[in-house]
Amino acid sequence: MMHGITSEPVEQYLYSLLPPRDEVLAAMESEADRRDIPIVGPLVGRVLHQLALMHNAKTVFELGSAIGYSTIWWARAVGENGKVIYTDGDRKNADEARGYFERAGVANRIAVKVGDALELLSEEKHTFDIIFCDVDKEDYPRAFRLAISRLRKGGLLVADNVLWSGKVADKNPADASTKAILEFNRLLYNSPDLFPAILPIRDGIAVAVKK
Ligand SMILES: C[S@@+](CC[C@H](N)C(=O)[O-])C[C@H]1O[C@@H](n2cnc3c(N)ncnc32)[C@H](O)[C@@H]1O
Repeated sequence: MMHGITSEPVEQYLYSLLPPRDEVLAAMESEADRRDIPIVGPLVGRVLHQLALMHNAKTVFELGSAIGYSTIWWARAVGENGKVIYTDGDRKNADEARGYFERAGVANRIAVKVGDALELLSEEKHTFDIIFCDVDKEDYPRAFRLAISRLRKGGLLVADNVLWSGKVADKNPADASTKAILEFNRLLYNSPDLFPAILPIRDGIAVAVKK
């Protein structure tokens, strides 16, 4: 489990409050831990699920889904008639994710797409209730520009890792990922089309509503 930007005892306390997950999510968490797969984990999973419930979201486009952990949190929130688009550039991830979707009983609400997530989003003709960004961080500014036009009015743009282990507060960040996240956060707060907020949970989650 990745450590967040809150202090270790606070982090421990937040995790201690969580009810146990079902066997599928629990198995995915163990697997992610064992293989170092950077999933959002249950603290953020619950936020994603809650956002979808609050918005009565029925359509979610996810950029960067790995083994499908966050996808399942979305899929359970959108309900029987909802649709979540899973995207990942790695076919092996997608095959593994399909197995988990079957086991979790949500395969029929998830469309699995393999390829460049940004390209796949740009091909979409419809708008979405929620677009969730969790691809390579260098892609965040481009994902931002693409996502805005594909969100319905009142829809949410959600992004993980926007505090990047606290590196966003470095005086002179040199690495490309930190720079891209700083640019993404700037775009978010300067956009006349969005009303954003950053939740400093785990590695920071941005939530922006389209006006
Ligand atoms: C942080 S992981 C996603 C974790 C997932 N959202 C979760 O919490 O369960 C990022 C994933 O995005 C994929 N990825 C990164 N950049 C991508 C891109 N441009 N297009 C498609 N997949 C990408 C990687 O293969 C990796 O599996």
